Amino acid sequence: MAVPDKIRQEVNKLREQIEHHNRLYHSLDAPEIPDADFDALVNRLERLEKKYNLVDVKSPSQRIGGEALSEFSQVTHEIAMLSLDKVFDEADLQAFDARLKKRLNKDSPIRYCCEPKVDGIAVSLLYRDGILERAATRGDGVTGEDISHNVRTITNVPLKLKSIKKKSLIEVRGEIFLGKQGFKSLNERAELEGSKVFVNPRNTAAGTIRQLDPKKAARIPLQMYCYNVGLIEGIELPNTLSGIFTLIEKWGLPVNPDRSVQTGIEACLEYCLRLLSKRNSLAYEIDGAVLKVNELKLQQKLGNNARSPRWAMAYKFPAEEKSTTVIDVEFQVGRTGTITPVARLEPVFVGGVTVSNTTLHNMDEIDRLGLRIGDKVVVRRAGDVIPKVVKVIQPTNAKEAKNRRVIKLPDVCPACGSVIEKDGKVLYRCSAGIICPAQRKESIKHFASRSAMDIEGLGDKLVDVLVDEEIISNVADIFTLTAEQLAALDRMGEKSANNIIAAINKSKQTTLPRFLFALGIREVGEATALQLVNHFGDLDKIKAAGTESLERVSDIGPKVAEHISVFFNNKENLALIRSLQQRGISWPKVEIDSQARSLEGQTYVLTGALELMARNEAKEKLLALGAKVAGSVSKNTSCVVAGPGAGSKLTKAEELGVNIINEGEFIALLDDLTN
Ligand code: IVH
Repeated sequence: MAVPDKIRQEVNKLREQIEHHNRLYHSLDAPEIPDADFDALVNRLERLEKKYNLVDVKSPSQRIGGEALSEFSQVTHEIAMLSLDKVFDEADLQAFDARLKKRLNKDSPIRYCCEPKVDGIAVSLLYRDGILERAATRGDGVTGEDISHNVRTITNVPLKLKSIKKKSLIEVRGEIFLGKQGFKSLNERAELEGSKVFVNPRNTAAGTIRQLDPKKAARIPLQMYCYNVGLIEGIELPNTLSGIFTLIEKWGLPVNPDRSVQTGIEACLEYCLRLLSKRNSLAYEIDGAVLKVNELKLQQKLGNNARSPRWAMAYKFPAEEKSTTVIDVEFQVGRTGTITPVARLEPVFVGGVTVSNTTLHNMDEIDRLGLRIGDKVVVRRAGDVIPKVVKVIQPTNAKEAKNRRVIKLPDVCPACGSVIEKDGKVLYRCSAGIICPAQRKESIKHFASRSAMDIEGLGDKLVDVLVDEEIISNVADIFTLTAEQLAALDRMGEKSANNIIAAINKSKQTTLPRFLFALGIREVGEATALQLVNHFGDLDKIKAAGTESLERVSDIGPKVAEHISVFFNNKENLALIRSLQQRGISWPKVEIDSQARSLEGQTYVLTGALELMARNEAKEKLLALGAKVAGSVSKNTSCVVAGPGAGSKLTKAEELGVNIINEGEFIALLDDLTN
């Protein structure tokens, strides 16, 4: 078929773009665009090449991404390290299974080894007579880079294999990655130190593994999961991939515990759905599931394509990073007057939801990102967290560059026109206090919200109307509202009005932690409210506490103690609490279980990666035992729990002679205290 010039040009352009992004991703560890955008380019190229018969061995559609960088010595993989084909929906996964059955001339269900597709970097480990001799990246599949110096710093990669008695050569392949907790701690540290924050765990891991200096790599708590063998000499292999996993595990190498063998494609689909539903709670990031034919004989029969084996398929999950455009930036006034820039985005489906706006936090964040209105950006939404603009994609042509507009902080509060004041290093605040309608509205919305007083039906829009029409002006006014007042509002039926009044009345029976949180004291979130109640037991004691005794509560530092003290020393706040109580708000008396609080008065610091327990869980357990969990080490620290990758906090603890325990000792301590 004659190929139109336009198509040829597009194919050439796509090939160039893909080569460019391949180099950025695989060789320089600095991708410009999200994976989903890259996949779209490759898909388009593959479709055009197929349709117009333009398939060419030199095309990037036929090759695996990276190329070895000259700084590292090069390694030739005796058996090529292939990539995976991918599908994005159930129907294509079923088609894959049908294709295999046809090729194998098989009617009975195929058994697949199903594994999480860990978002990291593929590597090969070579053990001679059980001793780690060399570790290499995949590179272009044939030639990779020698990264042994960095892999030797990874704590879960053994330098010597167990149970190897004979002369042997064992190549094991797998994925090196940075766990979510490790990534979070790194970024917390970067923010504290004012250094550049990392965009995502995958890029951080890729950058680390290609460090020239292993000391730097050792500071990042990388991990590895092995998923197959490559070159093998002197060892007899089992008949199945699951058997290979057992062998790898016997050698003392880490394997992913979330894998499982399933019979038939329907069972595999169920596995994928289960994996997707627990994606957020996994300790590491995944971008899909991988299905691999379990029987090695069948794998051999199926063979490979140019880039990937025919016996395996990746089922990609919704991307957690996508690109979109910042249409505008607006400034919102929060309940305590903070002025927050919010980006209005071209709606984008990312991390399983459609995102059309997201907070930019503060002006410093805008500077750090180098963001302007009109920019194309990468938005990331991993887990349940708030979507975040992580990166600006630099304009590629003059037109895009011309359409960018600088983001300016307004001179006055956008809600009430009062002066804006700087508060601390990065925050700006409307100076008007409760007179500012935006602050008034936000404090009422917060009070009525689900985790506070939980008043069903009193949503954001209704609060806006009630304040705009001057029906209520503070939280105590909520309890004087009548069904008639509500029913008189636009688009409000009698039934809805009655339901809201019933919800208001129901909310009067609350709990003290909820009530405290609902008051909207600065920096007092749900957890702190609960700590206050667990510590003091009743509201009068909290009201009367000075900053010194407040600071004895877990999680409360001098700044939060000051906010609490200022709040309860303000006559208007006390009057508001009185009128809320007069209007019927009450809570049951709190019993404090002093036996369970065996770490009362002690301060713990968690540092480095925790591998057996999520950091939050560790923190909650400590808090429940009455300990305080602090972010930095001082002479007041009672104990430091240090995991792999612990850095400056561990050094400081050693200098100060603070008690240091590892994760195993920590778990044993918790067991002792709770049993
Ligand atoms: S198997 C021949 N299994 O995904 C098959 N790959 O897109 C080679 N990956 O290069 C890979 N988890 O970096 C396999 N459980 C898993 C994986 C996995 C992550 C990565 C690996 C590979 C890429 C292909």
